[in-house]
Amino acid sequence: NKIPQQIDLLVTNIGTLVTPLGNHPRGGIEMQELQVIAGAAVAIHAGRIAWVGQEQEVQGALQGVEILATIDAGGRLVTPGLVDPHTHLVHGGSREHELALKRSGVPYLEILARGGGIHSTVNATRNTSEDALYSKALSSLNEMMLQGVTTVEAKSGYGLTLEDELKQLRVAKRLQENHPLTLVSTFMGAHAVPPEYKGREEEYVDLIVDEMLPRVTDEGLAEFCDVFCEQGVFTIEQSRHILMEGKRNGLIPKIHADEIVTLGGAQLAAEVGAISAEHLLASSDEGLQEMAEGGVIPVLLPGTSFNLGLTEHARARDMIDRYDLPVAIATDYNPGSCPTESIQLIISLASVNLKMTPEEILTACTINAANALGRGFEIGTIEAGKRADLAIFDAPSLAYLPYHFGINHTHGVIKDGRVLVW
Ligand code: NIG
Ligand code: FE
Repeated sequence: NKIPQQIDLLVTNIGTLVTPLGNHPRGGIEMQELQVIAGAAVAIHAGRIAWVGQEQEVQGALQGVEILATIDAGGRLVTPGLVDPHTHLVHGGSREHELALKRSGVPYLEILARGGGIHSTVNATRNTSEDALYSKALSSLNEMMLQGVTTVEAKSGYGLTLEDELKQLRVAKRLQENHPLTLVSTFMGAHAVPPEYKGREEEYVDLIVDEMLPRVTDEGLAEFCDVFCEQGVFTIEQSRHILMEGKRNGLIPKIHADEIVTLGGAQLAAEVGAISAEHLLASSDEGLQEMAEGGVIPVLLPGTSFNLGLTEHARARDMIDRYDLPVAIATDYNPGSCPTESIQLIISLASVNLKMTPEEILTACTINAANALGRGFEIGTIEAGKRADLAIFDAPSLAYLPYHFGINHTHGVIKDGRVLVW
């Protein structure tokens, strides 16, 4: 805590400040260990946290320092700004027309095989202008901000032609430039094989590798590369090829792994050096072990298993207790398997279905999520030097967030030292 000459914003009267500490991904017992400060204050300078601690101490420390603005947190709960490390933010249309089919028991992969599912959203996205995609994604991003989220990952994968993938990624880039939240972009041309390539799957893989990847990196449109590695979608071999080629083009691998069928996506994640592996409902013990050895972060999506009506969920308890894996959680916001922007709903589902504690859940949607995006060094905790991203909740305690479900607890959001919501 070194105090600069000037403080741009001083947040006072924080009832309880709760934050994980340290930049390293945390698994095991560590996910449970938070710093809790009752009666806290946070001083912000140039968009960064300059000082955090007990409010009485700050009064002394700030003697003679010019304070440009003060905001009273009213005794509320303050956490790091939440991080949503897995969303399909940019897409056209919606899929409520598939609801009855889904509820009558037709499995997710069956709807996809019949030309619906992802393909239906691909059609809608191809037929939506870049500007219309932008305003739709913008309203979702604002919704996420109102939930207390300050950093969001966004995947492409509903274009599946060179031009339509670029269109989706350009929308994300424009949002990155114009919206106060931090947006992190992932290229996911390997989300499904488009119908025009049916029976010529290898040619579509070649299109991704030879044309899409170089253009995406040339235009600086993505940081990560993701593949839907699943039975009937992309095989282990195809996924390995795409992720390795992505890596050669400078994109860090991510993977939708073992969501429905145990294909070995978790092992592949470790093999290719993926930063994270997502879903993991059907991962084997060997897969989890190799992820732990390879330092791969599991990103769990309890909204998806909930919305697909599954009775089995990802084995978060095993991941944390047995494998020491630094579990992260995300919305997976998308028009098919998980149409919600609400990270707070995900927080409650992580409690009910993943059996995670409130402390583990906070670690999962702050520092571990930040690390799943390679950003743990600058976000995900409330520590001096980090970006001043804070969420202020109308809640008497951390446990109240998962406990009182289905409503929005957000009172305020501060991003890079700017008050966006109050
Ligand atoms: O993460 N599983 C694959 N992709 C998305 C769903 C996409 C969709 O159904 O439109 C997911 O769940
Ligand atoms: Fe997804």
